[in-house]
Amino acid sequence: MEKLITIERHMQDTQKQFPGATGTFTKMLQDVALAAKIISRETNRAGLTNILGATSSENPSGERQQKLDMFADEIIFRMNDHTGRVAAMVSEEQDDLIEIPVEFDTGNYVLLYDPLDGSSNIDVNVSVGTIFSIHRKFTKGEKGTIEDVLQEGKRLVAAGYVIYGSSTMMVYTTGYGVHGFTLDLGVGEFILSHPDIRIPETPIYYSTNHGIEKDWTEGVRKLTHYLQGIDGDHPALNQRYIGSMVADFHRNLLKGGIFYYPGTLENRKKPYGKIRLMYEGQAMAFIAEQAGGYASDGIGNILNIRPHTLHQRTPIFMGNRDLVEKAEHFIKEYDQEWVALYNEYRNRELVI
Ligand code: AHG
Ligand code: MN
Ligand code: MN
Repeated sequence: MEKLITIERHMQDTQKQFPGATGTFTKMLQDVALAAKIISRETNRAGLTNILGATSSENPSGERQQKLDMFADEIIFRMNDHTGRVAAMVSEEQDDLIEIPVEFDTGNYVLLYDPLDGSSNIDVNVSVGTIFSIHRKFTKGEKGTIEDVLQEGKRLVAAGYVIYGSSTMMVYTTGYGVHGFTLDLGVGEFILSHPDIRIPETPIYYSTNHGIEKDWTEGVRKLTHYLQGIDGDHPALNQRYIGSMVADFHRNLLKGGIFYYPGTLENRKKPYGKIRLMYEGQAMAFIAEQAGGYASDGIGNILNIRPHTLHQRTPIFMGNRDLVEKAEHFIKEYDQEWVALYNEYRNRELVI
């Protein structure tokens, strides 16, 4: 019989490899795992409780907030506000940096999260997810600052996602490979089911929203034709698109492929794409790279972008490295006008 390894055990064993580690960081990941179990339970029961549907408010990106978005946001915050491990948080659903309430101690890490990814799929029983990432606090003082949360992705100490699909899975990396755990509902534990995930060398899928094709730049069109085997020598890939990045990414991570949400020209709706850098893009880019893949904004590695705003957007192309590099190639070749427009945004300075 194979060994049963819980997520807690796995985190502890990984930590043992680092002499001097205090365990704080491992406990923080465990707090996130517990929050994920609670969100999973509510997501599964959503149709039975009064938790489906939209609220009357909008999030900082101007999107209508769903009740489950707010619930998940609250759970993750409350699981981490009083532990003494976290110095500040950032959430897709909160305008500003989230401070730790004065009555609680602060710690050495900052937590960034998208509580519910794929909100448009909640009401229709299609997979959604949670994304999280952790940076080490580096400024002096008790409180976490904007500088602590707006660090480059390459400085992340951990990142992961939870997918609430046909089963609930948590996938995370601390920079030593990517590991996946499936929630056993009977015992309420995440059990190691996908150790050391590597993106397969031969891709099968490409994933993008074809409904907004009219807004695409020439480079993105060329890329798509390449992936479809229309231009060039690449065998045609199948297209799959769920509309929850976590689910689209997860499938392509296990099966091989590329996910993209590109930027558009200025007169179109989303010049810098849709995905948010700090709590969506960086985490996925770290995981992609740890699994042998790559994530780019079309110009370069997402992990090298110097952030300037909490809710900053990033175009994204991620999955098999050769396909993502192909995207960079087409953009360089055909999209100079867009590159100039986006570079002005990408290279803005952080204003405090
Ligand atoms: P969120 O629900 O956290 O706002 O994120 C939704 C994102 C992402 O999950 C997904 O890939 C994308 O929006 C889908 O957008 P389109 O509906 O424009 O394709
Ligand atoms: Mn999201
Ligand atoms: Mn969200």
